Amino acid sequence: MNKDEEYWEGRARKYDRLAANYLDKSLFRHEESFQRRAISRLIKNVEGKRILDAGCGTGDWCIYFADKGAVVSGVDISKTMIEIAKRETKKHKLKVDYEAVPLEKIAFPDKSFDIIISITTLQHITNPKRFRKAVKNLARVLKKNGIIALIEFSPPKRLKSWKDPRYMRYKTRGEWIGIFSKEGLKLVDEQPIFFIGFRVLTYLKKSFLSSKNDESTAETKLMKSKLRDIASLVQRIILFFSGLVDLLLSGMPVFKKKAYTSLFIFKK
Ligand SMILES: C[S@@+](CC[C@H](N)C(=O)[O-])C[C@H]1O[C@@H](n2cnc3c(N)ncnc32)[C@H](O)[C@@H]1O
Repeated sequence: MNKDEEYWEGRARKYDRLAANYLDKSLFRHEESFQRRAISRLIKNVEGKRILDAGCGTGDWCIYFADKGAVVSGVDISKTMIEIAKRETKKHKLKVDYEAVPLEKIAFPDKSFDIIISITTLQHITNPKRFRKAVKNLARVLKKNGIIALIEFSPPKRLKSWKDPRYMRYKTRGEWIGIFSKEGLKLVDEQPIFFIGFRVLTYLKKSFLSSKNDESTAETKLMKSKLRDIASLVQRIILFFSGLVDLLLSGMPVFKKKAYTSLFIFKK
């Protein structure tokens, strides 16, 4: 098992359905709704199309596209993610072909897919050689005129505070575009995804909601649990209002290249 596989396998075993996303359900749902809006705006008419979900996690996007009539394959480095994805797909009575295999080793024939989607996966391949191989494979299995839809953390420039965590390798918007153009793919569209409430919430959570190693008395524990209730209400309010701002910003052409996360559409 390489380090990335170990990391994602560990998350899948520990957190089940939430493992591939934010471990906080409301944050995850909130972000996913923005991703969905971007995807449904730029990827239409998928019925009968062959789609590969590269790094499918627990299968949410496979289910989304299979439900729209696409012929979907999902691959992921983690066996447990794939087991969860199979279980969830069965619940929806849909058909998806799943395989537990890293992107750098996929063995589909050349030009197999009309559309490849890869949602916050490539940024998590931490070894540069394996990363390059994975990108080459995606370009290889895509049909001529096919598209790759990519969502990654992709700010316009490097941030001073950037320090790669063990499970991530940050890249700027320009770096992502460069990586795919080297493989002969052209950026044909993009949709920024703003999520400005995230920083505020992360701060709030760290400050008020952490209960790790809690050695407080019963009285202060009760107070903290009340504080947690208030904080989760505050979280919902922040998400609601920041969501309105996010929505507004994502529709303004002037902010198109300014988001920290974007959906990119590359064409072969
Ligand atoms: C943040 S999750 C996103 C999952 C899914 N795309 C989604 O949006 O729900 C990242 C996923 O990438 C997978 N992954 C990491 N490295 C991979 C690799 N080299 N090949 C295939 N999958 C990989 C992880 O197992 C994990 O499921």
